[in-house]
Amino acid sequence: MSQPQIDPRALRDALSSFATGVTIVTTVDESGEPVGMTASSFNSVSMDPPLILWSVTKTALSAPIFQKADHFAVHVLAADQMALSNRFARSGEDKFKDVDYATDANGVPNIAGVLTRFDCKTWSVYEGGDHWIIVGEVQNMETQKGEGLVFSGGSYATAASIQPPNPESQTDEGPIEELLIYNLARAYVQVSRRFHASVEETGLSIAQWRTLASLHGGKARSVPDLVARTFVSPKKMNHLLSQMQEAGWLTVTGQNAEAVVKSTPKGEAQVEHLFELGAQQEAEALGSAGKSGQDRLIGLLRQVIENTNS
Ligand SMILES: Cc1cc2nc3c(=O)[nH]c(=O)nc-3n(C[C@H](O)[C@H](O)[C@H](O)COP(=O)(O)O)c2cc1C
Repeated sequence: MSQPQIDPRALRDALSSFATGVTIVTTVDESGEPVGMTASSFNSVSMDPPLILWSVTKTALSAPIFQKADHFAVHVLAADQMALSNRFARSGEDKFKDVDYATDANGVPNIAGVLTRFDCKTWSVYEGGDHWIIVGEVQNMETQKGEGLVFSGGSYATAASIQPPNPESQTDEGPIEELLIYNLARAYVQVSRRFHASVEETGLSIAQWRTLASLHGGKARSVPDLVARTFVSPKKMNHLLSQMQEAGWLTVTGQNAEAVVKSTPKGEAQVEHLFELGAQQEAEALGSAGKSGQDRLIGLLRQVIENTNS
């Protein structure tokens, strides 16, 4: 063993700081059974000839099969394929059960719906300590646009591109742009201006929309909960609720602190299409950040809401 000794756990932790994509490598065994496993050790090697590599732990049940295989396929997973990654990381299970795949001319399983697939012929297999390093020559590939699944620090993640700052908008930036409150307020005002106009076009006030949206999907809520969600003052809330009750949009059962508010089918119908419209407008506001950007932003905002909720 080489000196100085490296603690395996510390080494694993240190290596996990290197973010990778996630792949599933597949092949076929001698009896024609499909074989596959999740691997993040995939990397490019050479352009001419086109070579890639990945490494498989010698203790994996499929290691001897990959070591002998003439052909294999590397599937680069998309951001929403975490479950598939987990399935192929479970040793020895019937990993292909219910998985949508076809076999190619070499009998290698091609899993459907991935971001990219490299069909490879085994070029060389090297011993690398407790792993086999498998180098493949790319013979064919298929790829589609989309976001890849990322593995970093022992967790799955998604990658968003970092937008270079726009030099034009940078010139008049000051310290206020660094403040969360400024960015929250400005984003809120700009996003809500358009959406609130759409709400008002339906004849609902913003307070009515917020109330019905909070109750949507059969949610029962207390009056203080609605006050926190709608920003309507406790004094005005009772008036608002009785007005909406008269319109047949909601019901209030119980008294005072025990009062429970629920939407009626008529109330649910009032806001149904506004959810769709809101999602459409938000997608436009998020632009290239896309769904994963939205998930990250909402996750951060929820943290802020939780940390400041009193
Ligand atoms: C994100 C992720 C990446 C992985 N990367 C590798 C890898 O590069 N090489 C490897 O040998 N195992 C890797 N594994 C573990 C294997 O997928 C796991 O050992 C698998 O169960 C082996 O299957 P088998 O024993 O049925 O052959 C990874 C697991 C996960 C969740």
